[in-house]
Amino acid sequence: MPLMTSPSLPMNTINRDLKDVIDSVKAYIELDRASGISEFFVDTPDTRYAIHNTSDLDSLKTEISGCKRCSLHRTRHNTVLGAGNPKAELMFIGEAPGEDEDLHGLPFVGRAGQLLTKIIEAMGLKRSDVYIANILKCRPPNNRPPLPAEIEECEDILKKQIGIIKPKIICTLGKFASQTLLRTETTISALRGNFKEYNGIKLMPTFHPAYLLRNPADKKLVWQDMKKIMKELKR
Ligand code: URA
Repeated sequence: MPLMTSPSLPMNTINRDLKDVIDSVKAYIELDRASGISEFFVDTPDTRYAIHNTSDLDSLKTEISGCKRCSLHRTRHNTVLGAGNPKAELMFIGEAPGEDEDLHGLPFVGRAGQLLTKIIEAMGLKRSDVYIANILKCRPPNNRPPLPAEIEECEDILKKQIGIIKPKIICTLGKFASQTLLRTETTISALRGNFKEYNGIKLMPTFHPAYLLRNPADKKLVWQDMKKIMKELKR
């Protein structure tokens, strides 16, 4: 069958884009291989895991627990939907579960999570007052960054979650969550510190707690961002 091409895209642009995709897939495979993963699967999305008319977080949790939409189900121990107050005014959204989160089925319970807990408590809140979730619900092997296809497959689960919680404010933690929800490639350093909007909800991008563990001098910037959130929440 002849290759269908868009009349507006010259063939060499398509070849260049294809080469970029192939190069990034190769880079991920090399990264996984270097850390001992020797089998690779390509899954076709399984439509049985489409999200239905779920209207509460417990049903959503059950619904996604067997999700096989992407290949992350092969290496995960648990799906990690999120945790906290289902009526929270403030929702934190991180990147993806790490090793501890994968083992416990809960978000932000490792070292970065402990720092997030301290930040929440410094705001005069408890973890149980807020809701904490991630862009991806399954751990990428060796904590590699999420792939665009994985983000895409998982996004309607997060949308559903936000729709159920209806937070007044979303705080995105780090580059992946901020860029995904805001549909931008602007760096997190440029995004952080100013309220944006996500589907009518105020959204504050800030640095990820894992970044703060490596760059503690930037904690003061995150604190500035949290103070803006507290002001908005009238706390
Ligand atoms: N980092 C994240 O982005 N999410 C977690 O749940 C844990 C670490």
